[in-house]
Amino acid sequence: MNLTELLLSSCLLTVSIPSTEPVNSTSFTVLDLSSNPLNSELPDWLVNVSTLVHVDLSYFNLYGRIPLGFSELPNLQYFNLAGNNNLSNGFSEEIPPNLSDLSSLQVLDLAENNLTGRIPGSLGDLQAMAQEQIVIQYLLYYEENLMITAKRQLQLFTKALSLVTSLDLSGSNLSGDFPEELTKLSGLVVLNLSRNHISGKIPENISSLHQLSSLDLSSNNLLGSIPPTLSSLSFIGYLNLSNDDFSGTIPYAEHLTTYNASSFFGNPALCGPPLNVKCQDEDSDSQMEEEVSIKITIMEMNKK
Ligand SMILES: *[C@@H]1O[C@H](CO)[C@@H](O)[C@H](O)[C@H]1NC(C)=O
Ligand SMILES: *[C@@H]1O[C@H](CO)[C@@H](O)[C@H](O)[C@H]1NC(C)=O
Ligand SMILES: *[C@@H]1O[C@H](CO)[C@@H](O)[C@H](O)[C@H]1NC(C)=O
Ligand SMILES: *[C@@H]1O[C@H](CO)[C@@H](O)[C@H](O)[C@H]1NC(C)=O
Ligand SMILES: *[C@@H]1O[C@H](CO)[C@@H](O)[C@H](O)[C@H]1NC(C)=O
Ligand SMILES: *[C@@H]1O[C@H](CO)[C@@H](O)[C@H](O)[C@H]1NC(C)=O
Ligand SMILES: *[C@@H]1O[C@H](CO)[C@@H](O)[C@H](O)[C@H]1NC(C)=O
Ligand SMILES: *[C@@H]1O[C@H](CO)[C@@H](O)[C@H](O)[C@H]1NC(C)=O
Ligand SMILES: *[C@@H]1O[C@H](CO)[C@@H](O)[C@H](O)[C@H]1NC(C)=O
Ligand SMILES: *[C@@H]1O[C@H](CO)[C@@H](O)[C@H](O)[C@H]1NC(C)=O
Repeated sequence: MNLTELLLSSCLLTVSIPSTEPVNSTSFTVLDLSSNPLNSELPDWLVNVSTLVHVDLSYFNLYGRIPLGFSELPNLQYFNLAGNNNLSNGFSEEIPPNLSDLSSLQVLDLAENNLTGRIPGSLGDLQAMAQEQIVIQYLLYYEENLMITAKRQLQLFTKALSLVTSLDLSGSNLSGDFPEELTKLSGLVVLNLSRNHISGKIPENISSLHQLSSLDLSSNNLLGSIPPTLSSLSFIGYLNLSNDDFSGTIPYAEHLTTYNASSFFGNPALCGPPLNVKCQDEDSDSQMEEEVSIKITIMEMNKK
């Protein structure tokens, strides 16, 4: 049998993936076994199927580890292992830095696992994510994708599929500083690092991600000021910086004025609009300015 696509999403499958290669896979491109109540290991043989383009094993109760050889699939564009909390049994360690060798990868979704350690800076070298996208087309696809996913329809997974360049590492146990190297992925449309323990600052040059349409950094331990450069990212339709440790005045200008307080809640030391919290410094600054100008006026009056 010359299998090219295997689409068995949400089929209540109860058999595991065979541990030896079941097919002659010279043209096997799509494997989608997502949302099945299985317990299976991620089989090693998959790493030898160099024709694979699309692998979705999300919500599959996977356990074991990601075989390192996965980094050697030259055609892989879509790799989704989200929602396999059981990966912690072996893979809990860290995100394999070698994933950065997947030179065609446009979508990496490892959300809702129990990944630990820092986000490897090498992910900034994911070649296909560093390429500029034709944005309009991709935004449309993103909306469509959300809709279709909601309906759980299979036609999403066709070979004609165009991809929204996205990196989702949310809902895990990742720590360490915000990896500055990610700013090199200038084709990224969606970045979700929410619900981890990521600390450090948002780098000034986050503005290099000028195609971002969705940025979710909520529920981490990020600190420092929100860089004013963020307001130049004019494509962002969704921004969430809430439940972090940001401080100082929100650089509420340009594109940032399109967001309301719910994008910034839960940062006790953050102030200024759209939050209903006055900035201490600002007050004393303007008070000082007033005092100075009064003094100048008095001096000028005295001269006369
Ligand atoms: C797999 O299929 C290809 C082309 O159809 C053929 O050349 C090859 O011999 C097959 N390999 C095996 C192990 O059957
Ligand atoms: C992958 O292919 C190599 C070389 O053909 C072979 O030695 C190895 O056993 C294969 N690995 C798996 C897990 O099938
Ligand atoms: C994790 O996998 C083990 C089998 O290795 C299984 O017994 C257990 O129920 C799984 N846990 C979850 C939360 O799926
Ligand atoms: C990562 O890939 C390089 C080159 O392909 C290899 O030498 C190295 O052993 C790999 N690292 C791991 C942890 O597999
Ligand atoms: C995550 O992994 C850690 C150890 O690495 C373990 O202590 C913890 O229970 C795991 N959490 C979940 C939700 O699996
Ligand atoms: C980011 O991930 C979290 C947790 O996985 C999820 O709740 C949230 O909706 C995601 N954000 C966006 C913008 O999709
Ligand atoms: C995160 O990892 C730590 C240390 O490995 C572990 O103690 C903790 O339970 C993990 N948290 C979750 C939510 O899994
Ligand atoms: C942003 O700055 C960091 C740290 O200086 C650097 O590693 C990264 O390559 C820079 N990104 C771009 C796109 O220049
Ligand atoms: C704030 O913006 C979010 C997302 O755009 C929206 O869902 C919410 O209703 C808005 N809240 C208020 C108070 O306007
Ligand atoms: C941002 O994320 C928090 C959870 O961390 C959520 O409560 C809030 O509604 C989100 N804000 C928006 C605008 O989606």
